[in-house]
Order: sequence, then structure tokens, then C-alpha cells
Amino acid sequence: MSIAQATIHFTRVVAVAAQKGGVGKTTIVMMLAAILSRWFKVLVVDVDPQKSTTKWANRGEEDLPFDFADSLDPEALGKLKDLHEYDVILVDTPGHHSDRDILDAVLDISDFVIVPTEPTALSLDSILDTLRDHIIPKGLQYRLLVNKVRPQRGTDHTESWLDLFDKNEWIPGEVGLPRFRQFIRLSSPVEDAPGEGTVVTQFYDNRKNHNAISDFAALGTELAAAWATEKRS
Ligand SMILES: Nc1ncnc2c1ncn2[C@@H]1O[C@H](COP(=O)(O)OP(=O)(O)OP(=O)(O)O)[C@@H](O)[C@H]1O
Ligand SMILES: [Mg+2]
Repeated sequence: MSIAQATIHFTRVVAVAAQKGGVGKTTIVMMLAAILSRWFKVLVVDVDPQKSTTKWANRGEEDLPFDFADSLDPEALGKLKDLHEYDVILVDTPGHHSDRDILDAVLDISDFVIVPTEPTALSLDSILDTLRDHIIPKGLQYRLLVNKVRPQRGTDHTESWLDLFDKNEWIPGEVGLPRFRQFIRLSSPVEDAPGEGTVVTQFYDNRKNHNAISDFAALGTELAAAWATEKRS
């Protein structure tokens, strides 16, 4: 049985959310959509008024391996789960607190939330607010994802962040903050991709691109494996 057969029995809406600008929401949506498209029929929806995902997608000369839509219409958002032709719908959300109504509207129809954070205290502070104010009160399944890891800081530095999540001294009632084992390293091909309109599955497999290809592929596999083993009520 393939991962896709084992995993998807319904249209799954996955929000990528963090009320902190620049942590990588748009990047995670576009790269993960590309990886998941290897196994699933994927739609990307841009609800951020900045329209970064839309601009990235429009810049691509090569066809993206997933479908794309932008919408700020709450009624259209409510109908996303009726789009049964898709296995996975990835939603890019705004990073600004003033857009909290859009964020809540997306979370209300989401099955799973990916919460990217940089391995810095300031980024984590904002992410904890998003968890406390929006994600945990709705009882949503979520996982933190550490992005923009600087390889030169060494694995100990990253591991110490992951340990902090597991210990969770910030949010009462949560034993450890759920997180992906995989993290995403800072790399120039990922930084350049929005300007070139490309996604990770279009990168040449060479030394320069290796970290990006391997990080996003492992992230996609970890997510699909989690779906394959989850029990739904
Ligand atoms: N792993 C990475 N390696 C290199 N650059 C990255 C990485 N992740 C994100 N970036 C870059 O960091 C910047 C911010 O990323 P991105 O736009 O994805 O963040 P965002 O959370 O969507 O921001 P906003 O809240 O403004 O929508 C972009 O220039 C992007 O190319
Ligand atoms: Mg963005």
C-alpha cells in the first residue's frame, strides 16, 4: 500500500500559522505542497492580504505540481472542506495580529496546524501567543516546526531548542509542545526560491541544494507518516 492509500480518507485542511512575520509560513506552505504533491492531490490557498504565496506562484515559469487559489472571502473559506477532489489543502495565513479574524476563520475549518518558529526567543514569544490565544483553545492538533536553523550554530544549539519544546515551561496543561522531529535549515536556494518562482521539487539535486531537498522531503514524510498512524474519532 502506498503512503497516499494508507493516509488520506478525507480532504484534510492544514493551516500554516504563526503571528510573527518572516518565520517562514509562506515558504513552508509552498515547499511542503510540492513535496506532498508526490503522493497527494494538493491545493494551496493564500488568505494573507500580503499575497506573498500568490506572487511566488505567479512568478513560476514552470508549472507548479499543485493547484493554487487565493481567497479572502469567509464564505468561500467555509466551503474548502467540500473540495473533495483534493487530499490536502494547505492554507497560508497572515503573520500580523491585526488579521486575527482571517486566522480564526481558517483555524475553524482546519484539521491540523503547522506552527513555524525560528530558533530565537523573540520568535518563540510570538508563537506561544498564537498557541495560547488561537490554536489551543480550539482544541486543534498542531506541531511546531523549527525553521531557519543556521547549520554553523551546530546541532547542539538546535537540539537545545527542541528540548525546550519537549519540557514546555510556558503553557500549563500541555505536557510537551508537539513538534516535528525534522527542522528546516537556512539555505540560499530556499531564500531565492520565491524570487525565481520555484519550489523544492524543481531544484537540481546538487551540493548547494542538498540541505533544502533533504529537509523538506523528510518533513513531508514525517507528516504523511503521522497521518497514516492517527486515529480519527
Ligand atoms: N529555511 C529558509 N532558508 C532561507 N530563507 C528562508 C527560509 N525560510 C524562510 N526564508 C526566507 O525568509 C523570509 C521570510 O519567509 P516567509 O515569507 O516564508 O515568512 P512568512 O512567515 O510567510 O512571513 P509573513 O508573516 O510576512 O507572511 C523570506 O525572504 C524567505 O525566503
Ligand atoms: Mg507569508
